[in-house]
Amino acid sequence: MQKTNIWLDSDPGIDDAVAFAMAAASGDKLNVVGISAVSGNQSSDRVTRNALRLSALLHMDDVPVVRGARKPLIKQVADAAEVHGESGLGHYTAPETTKQLATEDNGLLYMRNRILALPEGEKITLVPTGPMTDMALLLQTFPEVKARIERVVLMGGSSIGGNVTEKAEFNIWADPEAAQILFHSGLPIVMCGLDITLKCGLTSSQIQGLRQQPGAIQQAYWRMLNFYAGATDEEAGQLTAIHDATTIIFLTNPELFSGKFVTVDVDCSNTDGQGETLCSDATIDDDNAVVLLNAVDLPRYQEVLLTKLASLKE
Ligand code: BDR
Ligand code: CA
Repeated sequence: MQKTNIWLDSDPGIDDAVAFAMAAASGDKLNVVGISAVSGNQSSDRVTRNALRLSALLHMDDVPVVRGARKPLIKQVADAAEVHGESGLGHYTAPETTKQLATEDNGLLYMRNRILALPEGEKITLVPTGPMTDMALLLQTFPEVKARIERVVLMGGSSIGGNVTEKAEFNIWADPEAAQILFHSGLPIVMCGLDITLKCGLTSSQIQGLRQQPGAIQQAYWRMLNFYAGATDEEAGQLTAIHDATTIIFLTNPELFSGKFVTVDVDCSNTDGQGETLCSDATIDDDNAVVLLNAVDLPRYQEVLLTKLASLKE
């Protein structure tokens, strides 16, 4: 079976780190062509360092890592340190590595070249799990890549209210203009917004179960997720949503999910609605129709996530 070529564009970030782990454990189905780090949960320097070190920890030795955008298109940088800590990975510090960035120059140019160099007939699936800045810059600067993009499977947005403001989800709120460009690009998009990701979580006993596992990778993920779970109100029935991992698990196990078609407009105003994804029901034939995932087989999702995490070897 032909593997799906994916490019991870992320801002690690604890749940981004879980998405990396899911990709590393899915070599039978996915071919990770590259990783870019976009400013979001933490500064460009911190997310780039985290992406590089996590890729080494997960033995993604042949996967190039580049630095993406250092700031949003128009807005000022605003991080999510209260959720992901000052390092971006909670109290965890990923081990130092001798692995170097694939280029110290323009990471987006590197991404463009790598996508265009895919074997003839092959395409890329873009998987953005941070602000959409790199996606917008890539499409606007290098429109020639568009023909090589199979689809975009993104984490961001919501039709059910926000998590960073009442109306907006963090990745879209952090760079609304970039998200608006992507949602109107005409590319096939699968949207893993809060509609689905709030349902895709782990219980605290599942997270604590990682601590019982002897491997260094499982211990690292316990450390990260234990911090991340601090923001969860379990008494109110909340799971610890592993938002970004949903993208990869959707790619490997699409049968676990269902959704509907919508069109999406992003509120790019300077009001308290900024970053809201305004979703209207649509059909597959509508221009810019997006698949909004909204239902999941949770027990299977948890099983896939935990089995893949447990499978990773030092
Ligand atoms: C998104 O925001 C970030 O803090 C997470 O990494 C995730 O991508 C969830 O709203
Ligand atoms: Ca993220």
